Amino acid sequence: MAPRKIIIDTDPGQDDAFAILFALGSPEDLEVVGITTVGGNVPLSLTTKNALKVVELAGRPDVPVFAGCPAPMVKKLMTAEYVHGETGLDGAELPEPATPVQDEHAVNWMVRTIMAAREGEITVCTLGPMTNLAMAMTMEPRIVPRIREVVLMGGGFFEGGNATPAAEFNIFVDPHAAHKVFHSGVPVTMAPIDCTYTAQMTPEWLGTLRATGSRAALEAANMAEFYCQYGDHKFPTRARPIHDACVTGYLLSPNIYEQRQCYVTVDISSSETIGMTVVDWWHVTGKEKNVNVLRRIEPAPFFDLMLDRISALP
Ligand code: RIB
Ligand code: CA
Repeated sequence: MAPRKIIIDTDPGQDDAFAILFALGSPEDLEVVGITTVGGNVPLSLTTKNALKVVELAGRPDVPVFAGCPAPMVKKLMTAEYVHGETGLDGAELPEPATPVQDEHAVNWMVRTIMAAREGEITVCTLGPMTNLAMAMTMEPRIVPRIREVVLMGGGFFEGGNATPAAEFNIFVDPHAAHKVFHSGVPVTMAPIDCTYTAQMTPEWLGTLRATGSRAALEAANMAEFYCQYGDHKFPTRARPIHDACVTGYLLSPNIYEQRQCYVTVDISSSETIGMTVVDWWHVTGKEKNVNVLRRIEPAPFFDLMLDRISALP
């Protein structure tokens, strides 16, 4: 089987970096056609620099990085330095990237790439606010039926939200983009915090990652140790959800996830719950089930696989 072609749309972010390293460590299964960056955890200039640093850390400077939208479609950008640090990749000691960002705007490249590919050939993985993908769908609606699947980290339902009581960060930052993607008709698989909270990265696992000794593993462990510093008020131990890596894990091993096709929409109307993903888990609306919702993960096979793939990098 040829590796699955994916576009990774991202706002690195330490957990984004893990998702990218996990994917680049799986060349038999995944072909990362390109990486598109978006303003999110930190401003676009930093998410773009961080994406370049991560592909170089993986020994894959050949993977092109395209800068996308600096701000959401309607709202003002909200960033998360309180989690990821001022650089967005605090904890890792990585050199300034030698690889330049591509000249083409990410949204233009996304449209051109999907239109040039065979129908159903490209999967779009979004790890941050979905501004780039929503703008691409707006600019060229013909890409929608050509996309194989959108696999996204975002949303929350039984666990509420992490940006507000009702909304998870990626959706809260750009709820209008999320609403457009969820209702576009493209096949969507969503990894909400309900799922990612069951993918708790432990200090013990980080120790095994560090012990594998590659530079990628070492720097991944370094950035993770910074990332795990935030959240003592939310979690009983220093284990933390490695949110975005759950997207890569799904592409590689979907059977370790509890999942259910549901009707899902995004609140874009109210002020109190804007960005809330409303998941019809019990199908009470009778509305079309537009999203495959990932509810839980089996942590052991997930972390074993991620260790195996990241430690395979140089
Ligand atoms: O809520 C978690 C999400 O927000 C992750 O994608 C993290 O990187 C931040 O972007
Ligand atoms: Ca992210």
